[in-house]
Amino acid sequence: MSIEAHGGKLVNRVLEGKEREDLLKKAIEMPQLKLSVRDLTEAENIAIGLYSPLEGFMNQDDYIEVVEEMHLINGLAWTIPIVLGVSKEESESLKIGQDIALTDSEGTVYAVLHLEDKYEYNQEKEAEWVYKTTDIEHPGVAKIYERGKVLLGGKISLLRRIQHKLFNEYRLDPKDVRELIEEQGWKRVVGFQTRNPIHRAHEYIQKCALEICDALLLTPLVGETKGTDVPVEYRIESYEVVMDKIYPQNRTDLAVFPAAMRYAGPREAVFHALCRKNYGCTHFIVGRDHAGVGDYYGTYEAQEIFDNFKAEEIGIEPLCFEHAFYCKECESMATAKTCPHSQEAHIFLSGTKVRGLLKEGKKPPKEMTRPEVADVLIRGMAR
Ligand code: ADX
Repeated sequence: MSIEAHGGKLVNRVLEGKEREDLLKKAIEMPQLKLSVRDLTEAENIAIGLYSPLEGFMNQDDYIEVVEEMHLINGLAWTIPIVLGVSKEESESLKIGQDIALTDSEGTVYAVLHLEDKYEYNQEKEAEWVYKTTDIEHPGVAKIYERGKVLLGGKISLLRRIQHKLFNEYRLDPKDVRELIEEQGWKRVVGFQTRNPIHRAHEYIQKCALEICDALLLTPLVGETKGTDVPVEYRIESYEVVMDKIYPQNRTDLAVFPAAMRYAGPREAVFHALCRKNYGCTHFIVGRDHAGVGDYYGTYEAQEIFDNFKAEEIGIEPLCFEHAFYCKECESMATAKTCPHSQEAHIFLSGTKVRGLLKEGKKPPKEMTRPEVADVLIRGMAR
């Protein structure tokens, strides 16, 4: 038996068979709301249980509790609001108790929202409490300000899956990943979040974690990211290259994480951990400045936030790593915990420097980026 989903039960709000047919027919008569791909993806993520125990977009009481207390009103830990924003005008005609068809921009129905709540909220307060800044330059905060002024709460029934051109072989739902873990007989599975191509520090902390676990589940994020992050196809390709040659195939798997990046640092680290628990992971890697952006968060804040919760409240164990680098004296990857040498012995280039090299078609030092990964990234930069 794999680890329980958050809240004890993996949510499944995906309708099938007659139930689905019936609701699809009814949806024609329902008020319709056109959603962005980001919001439709959130509805799907809820329905497939990735956000268990959530069964829908948050009602006001849960929303407030999450923003202020990092918990749901049922007492479970939860750190990021999962909400659906609409304009005041859109919200006016919608009535509590109604079923609302959620469609894409062309009017195809993907889900039904069983409307339980509609409420106004304070965007600046959410920004301050969740993101620790109201600065519009913060990409996660900017998304709050772009969101409609009224939030709709209520359970989701999913009627249609979003079709994707990319990574279909890696689009595993939590239930699929759980089956895989069960089949392989893995007891200790460590999850890894990333929004970047793989580099040697990633590889080091993943393999350190794998030394004490049975398997490594790579879950690179493929949802919306800010424009300056490396395009997603090259990020995934960088993983394909290393999985083929550098990782033990019987202990490593990859399932893309479909959620959008929030850049909420510490709060998002807890959210990322809970989602990986829903996939069936028992451990989760939290390194330096996890899910951070700019200098809004301290280097280890995303690790320290876990101290606010009892271990059983989170239920998946964070494996925390300090900043990792290559040390010429140690002749290996290391961190300040294991390396006694001074910074002169460390090989470190900033992200900006690495990008500069790649743009010129030059490979960064192999101690930072494996040459076969650099080849992928140079192609990515040149496109
Ligand atoms: S994130 O926004 O998805 O966290 P990134 O892909 O850079 O960004 O990081 C993925 C994971 O690796 C995070 O847990 C992060 O803290 C960790 N990490 C990245 N670089 C290092 C490093 N040099 N040393 C230790 N941990 C790192």
